[in-house]
Amino acid sequence: MCGIVGYVGNKNASTIVLNGLKKLEYRGYDSAGIASVNGALDIRRASGKLINLETKLVEKPLLGNLAIGHTRWATHGAPVERNAHPHADEANNIAVVQNGIVENFIVLRRQLQDEGHEFKSDTDTEVITHLVDKYLADGNELVTACRLAFRQLEGAHAIAVTSQQEPDKIIAARLGNAGGVIVGLGDGENYLASDIPAILEHTQHVVFLEDQEMAVITANGITYSRIDGASIEKDYTVITWDPISAVKGQYHHFMEKEIHEQPQSIQSTIRGRVDFTTGKIAFEELELTPEAAKQLDRVMIVACGTSFYAGQVGRFILEKLARIKVSVEYASEFRYRDTLIDDKTAILAISQSGETVDTLAAMEEGREQGAKLWSIVNVQGSMVHKLSDGSILMQAGPEIGVASTKAFTTTLTDLFMLGMYLGQLRGTLSDEESLELVKHLAHLPELAGEVLKEGYNDFETLVHLYHKKDHFLYLGRGVNYPIAMEGALKLKEISYIHAEGYPAGEMKHGPIALIDEDMPVLCIVTQDNVYDKMISQVEQVRARDGVVISLVNEGDTMVAEKSTHILQIPKTHPLLTPILSVIPLQLLAYHIAVRRGADVDQPRNLAKSVTVE
Ligand code: AGP
Repeated sequence: MCGIVGYVGNKNASTIVLNGLKKLEYRGYDSAGIASVNGALDIRRASGKLINLETKLVEKPLLGNLAIGHTRWATHGAPVERNAHPHADEANNIAVVQNGIVENFIVLRRQLQDEGHEFKSDTDTEVITHLVDKYLADGNELVTACRLAFRQLEGAHAIAVTSQQEPDKIIAARLGNAGGVIVGLGDGENYLASDIPAILEHTQHVVFLEDQEMAVITANGITYSRIDGASIEKDYTVITWDPISAVKGQYHHFMEKEIHEQPQSIQSTIRGRVDFTTGKIAFEELELTPEAAKQLDRVMIVACGTSFYAGQVGRFILEKLARIKVSVEYASEFRYRDTLIDDKTAILAISQSGETVDTLAAMEEGREQGAKLWSIVNVQGSMVHKLSDGSILMQAGPEIGVASTKAFTTTLTDLFMLGMYLGQLRGTLSDEESLELVKHLAHLPELAGEVLKEGYNDFETLVHLYHKKDHFLYLGRGVNYPIAMEGALKLKEISYIHAEGYPAGEMKHGPIALIDEDMPVLCIVTQDNVYDKMISQVEQVRARDGVVISLVNEGDTMVAEKSTHILQIPKTHPLLTPILSVIPLQLLAYHIAVRRGADVDQPRNLAKSVTVE
């Protein structure tokens, strides 16, 4: 969940590393630090947000052309300066940063203490520092000392090490699924990062390290090897993301920007996939024949958080269009059940980051049991992408705000097209139906743009009246029930208001007891097969003096009359409605959070990539 950046070249390294860390702050933001080598090793660290580190660097700059830095999401040890990375040894010879957990750190720490090493922090990472130090003291060169140290670690890790003894190199390693380790290729300079946005402004040529791989990075070259010592060759990948998309531009927050990018990202998602004259959809990357699609018995969607809710919408789509059994599983629970999987099962992992450790574990479990592995993922080269037999790359571009927005709607667009694709291969979707569906799809970016127009919905009144509330309820039915869950998740994660999403039909089985004049209830009442049922729900809440904010289709005066407030979206095909209905809920959460003065892009306790269990 932490972010790592490294640079070696001919420029001031700490400036480049600090700027890179700013782009990774979404991964962790409770403390940060940078170590640079300029003859001697020099380190600056600060608790809290990166700005604190930046202030320290202004007061006391770090010189030198090689540096590694880290932004932390604490696992072991409080988020105070002494626990911030990089961690140096007693002699201030080497500095280490890590993303992941050293699971056997207690045993290692005791052994090292018995051997005379003195620890200065409460972190698990510091054992890596002392292990490397110990093997250096035995006369090994840095790369060998690192290799020997890394072999002793249990758990999953992304690690960077530097030393004043060999001041021209950064050693980087990836052990297991603790998040990306990406080497960026420059001219007379090279980079290291946990994620692409950190180095995208410098290079679009990157090398992804795999599990058990190491890189020795110098200004003029990089060598790759395995932890066991075998040399390897690595190919580079060209990243097609636009570097501009990783900066905030005119917007106040990345989340605001990413919400407004949705018409564009939906458009890019559709582009090249759909033949609008025949209605046919193309997903060559799944390498699926009609026979194989027909033999498929079941799709199991595995995901976490917002991606899980996307999966729940996906179940409606796939069942309807492809007539296939679908289950949606919390990836975090998946491996703790005796799940029944076979070679007629396709596991479909959904992940924006492609690094979520639980999702990866669920995929691995599926692989062991012989399932086909598919994924919908935003980050090219990520572990989810690589582990899949067939992977659909979202066209969301980098998503920096911790609260996922555009990745959600691009995933829903991909799921809609996947449902159509499977339906076409399995013969459950006729040409006429396909043509009708792609007509709706073609209008989607424009409709999303309408929802985002200034003044289309009145958020000001809602924010003014309700930003101080402690609780919110979100209700939906059918395909919009996961949107109620997602709307509630958005509100709670960025505004810290307690919000519950519920399938509306469950209300009378308990939660209706919560309704009173103090409880705003957001009801998704779009015109579909559960429209009448949702209207009764609105009536039931009103009858108990609840405040009802109804999300309706444009021009629905009937529901407007029954509600306290309305939000609106244009009408589209019912299976595409969630892509539009979530947008006002994203905006409502955003505006409420801003009014409450919350840190929208970096909400407390959260991180963008959840790489620990
Ligand atoms: C979304 O707003 C959340 N921050 C979170 O629930 C996220 O969707 C979840 O952690 C899964 O992440 P992934 O899509 O990168 O796997």
